[in-house]
Amino acid sequence: MAQSKPAGAEKWPVVAIRDLHKSFGDLEVLKGISFTAREGEVVSLIGSSGSGKSTLLRCINMLEVPDRGNVAIDGEEIELRGSGKRRHIGNEDQIRRIRSELGMVFQSFNLWAHMTILENVMEAPLIVQRRARAEVEAEALAMLDKVGIGAKASNYPSQLSGGQQQRAAIARALCINPRVMLFDEPTSALDPELEVEVLRVIKLLADEGRTMVLVTHDMEFARSVSDRVIFLHQGLIEEEGTPDQCSAPPNRPASDNSSMPPATPEPLRRHNNIQRRDVKMKKIILAAAAILSLASASRAQKPSASPPRAPMLLGTSSMTPASPPALKSSWAMRSAKRLPLPANSSSMTGIPSSPTCSQAITM
Ligand SMILES: Nc1ncnc2c1ncn2[C@@H]1O[C@H](COP(=O)(O)OP(=O)(O)OP(=O)(O)O)[C@@H](O)[C@H]1O
Ligand SMILES: [Mg+2]
Repeated sequence: MAQSKPAGAEKWPVVAIRDLHKSFGDLEVLKGISFTAREGEVVSLIGSSGSGKSTLLRCINMLEVPDRGNVAIDGEEIELRGSGKRRHIGNEDQIRRIRSELGMVFQSFNLWAHMTILENVMEAPLIVQRRARAEVEAEALAMLDKVGIGAKASNYPSQLSGGQQQRAAIARALCINPRVMLFDEPTSALDPELEVEVLRVIKLLADEGRTMVLVTHDMEFARSVSDRVIFLHQGLIEEEGTPDQCSAPPNRPASDNSSMPPATPEPLRRHNNIQRRDVKMKKIILAAAAILSLASASRAQKPSASPPRAPMLLGTSSMTPASPPALKSSWAMRSAKRLPLPANSSSMTGIPSSPTCSQAITM
């Protein structure tokens, strides 16, 4: 049942989440999460890998049905029936309508490969919203211009860079004219130079006053774009506040100008430590992958009469003359710049779920 909008000064709660619980088998991922994103607010969700950020985001549009708790969009609570594992969507018409109010952008773009960029952007307004083609096409072209890829409208996704594909995915989400944009680590599959283009578009949307819930590992970006930052830890909200509050030491206001260097608050310190640990892991994996790649390259060479080579040591001048091409891959750049790895990376190590090491380093 939709609530009526209050006349008071407090902004309207566009997304209201109450006491959300979600388990997968024995793993309790969300243990009672509540938060609100009000009209025009940008709320960033930060947390270590596996802390439940994507699950929480997917519960907002019921791609995952929570075991307990409720979600209301624009004052209308999503109807759910049953309890625990048997809980399910109670009203298909309602969820279809509400989903068309939620524009979701995934890590891995999820564009249709057999459709042009323009067709991708037009699909939901035509098929789901059943709007007139001419009107939708004009709007889709305007959206593509807005995100800076108007010239790519008739190209296929495979003909675009990752950053351009992600901007097409943002245009597609915008084209349904959503009340809320949900972003799940929209730049984590991108090279650093492409990441900037996408972050610029998200910042533009934030400056326009769009209500957004954004999952990110990038604390700097979260700080620059958010009204509120939420730290998730072990299935609960550990800390919530303005970007300044979340990066200020406990019991000390952000405006305190004393000469003492500020202590980093616990959630941010933990986040930074995890980032550092992940970067270390990725460096180790890269080094191992480079060794394997060199070993398989030298095995592929025909046996020659040349004398056996001296063993190679990474990080010393005894390494082969130039770094292997693989080290110039996006993985190496990511590792060097402390960026997260592609969408199909496993959560802790960044190792792709199935491919071999040599495939991994050329992704
Ligand atoms: N459909 C599923 N079935 C079983 N387990 C799942 C499912 N989806 C998520 N999980 C588990 O729930 C936990 C939280 O996953 P989630 O994807 O929400 O984490 P995250 O915080 O988004 O991590 P990351 O930063 O790596 O994306 C993980 O342990 C994950 O393996
Ligand atoms: Mg995730």
